Amino acid sequence: IARHFSRSSAVQSAIKNVTVIGGGLMGSGIAQVAAQAGQNVILVDVNSDILAKAQKSIGNNLGRVAKKIYKDTPQEAEKFVIDSMNRIKTATDALSASQTADLVVEAIVENIDVKHQLFQKLDQVAPDNTIFASNTSSLSINEIASVIKRKDKFGGLHFFIPVPVMRLLEVVRGAETSETTYKSMMDWGKSLGKTCITCKDTPGFVVNRLLVPYIAEAIRLFERGDAFARDIDIAMKLGAGYLIGPLELADYIGLDTIKFILDGWHKKFPEEQLFKPIPLLNKLVSEGKLGMKTGEGFYKYE
Ligand code: CAA
Ligand code: NAD
Repeated sequence: IARHFSRSSAVQSAIKNVTVIGGGLMGSGIAQVAAQAGQNVILVDVNSDILAKAQKSIGNNLGRVAKKIYKDTPQEAEKFVIDSMNRIKTATDALSASQTADLVVEAIVENIDVKHQLFQKLDQVAPDNTIFASNTSSLSINEIASVIKRKDKFGGLHFFIPVPVMRLLEVVRGAETSETTYKSMMDWGKSLGKTCITCKDTPGFVVNRLLVPYIAEAIRLFERGDAFARDIDIAMKLGAGYLIGPLELADYIGLDTIKFILDGWHKKFPEEQLFKPIPLLNKLVSEGKLGMKTGEGFYKYE
């Protein structure tokens, strides 16, 4: 399988200063790929322990990327890692961190109220020309934008985990996203070496509208006792050619994130069977078993 990593890309973007809000699984990856592409990044999280963890994992992951790009030149590999790391600053105050941003990418918890609170405050302090984007997996871009004035400068930039490896970026045009903003988002995605597709503001855009019901069905199959977890994952890898099985993938994405997505869609579309709550998923989340990030989900991790 072809893996593609960019150090600097042929596609130029006018965006040079990026603020990424949320330093978890996704935010750390987004910060990494922007820094790799030569942009200045401020990575923000309310939790400074998370920022320390993010810096460590970015360092490790840059090392993996550098080994591939600079196979035969270890000194250049080391320089690549150091230079990229130096482009990433961290902060706990989203408002001051957004004052020099050309683009703010939000990757905080999948909750519309929390996202609203953040964007409402940012809208008041960020420069007028700053573009805002959300990495939401499942919420409506128009609904998130409803609380801000710069609706023309808002859109969705939906990355995939692990961000440095997955080559796709879904660029979501909201009802009021301007042509200029849309073009800037596409150019920025390309400058990171991603392949960009255009999506409408529909639930789950393209990938998650197909992927989340599939994962939910796998959890239900396991919950009914129809097959062992390991066998469900083996089945989809060896029988359908997937890189990773659905329960492993759920653990990788985060069971809390899967639950946030399903709950949100269930509330909006109560008749849709595919979005119905799953008692086993709710139980694991309530026990703090959120998958790889907490050391246990459907599987245990060291
Ligand atoms: N940074 C840089 N490189 C990384 C990396 C990271 N974070 N994670 C993995 N890699 C690289 C490794 O160095 C390795 O490179 P080589 O093959 O060149 O040696 C390669 O990726 C494979 O990694 P591993 O050997 O560690 O493990 P693996 O072969 O089991 O692959 C995986 C792990 C990359 C996660 C792979 O299973 C995969 O791509 N799975 C699909 C993931 C997927 O479907 N993501 C989308 C989820 S949906 C989503 O994100 C949307 C949403 O809103 C929920
Ligand atoms: P995560 O739990 O790993 O990280 C979220 C981070 O946001 C946490 O570190 C938390 O401390 C921080 N945070 C919460 N509220 C904040 C605030 N007001 N200001 C600053 N920081 C705040 O979650 P994640 O998996 O990185 O997901 C983040 C977003 O990306 C969600 O919207 C999710 O739906 C979306 N997403 C997730 C995936 C995935 O596979 N996990 C893929 C694509 C998109």
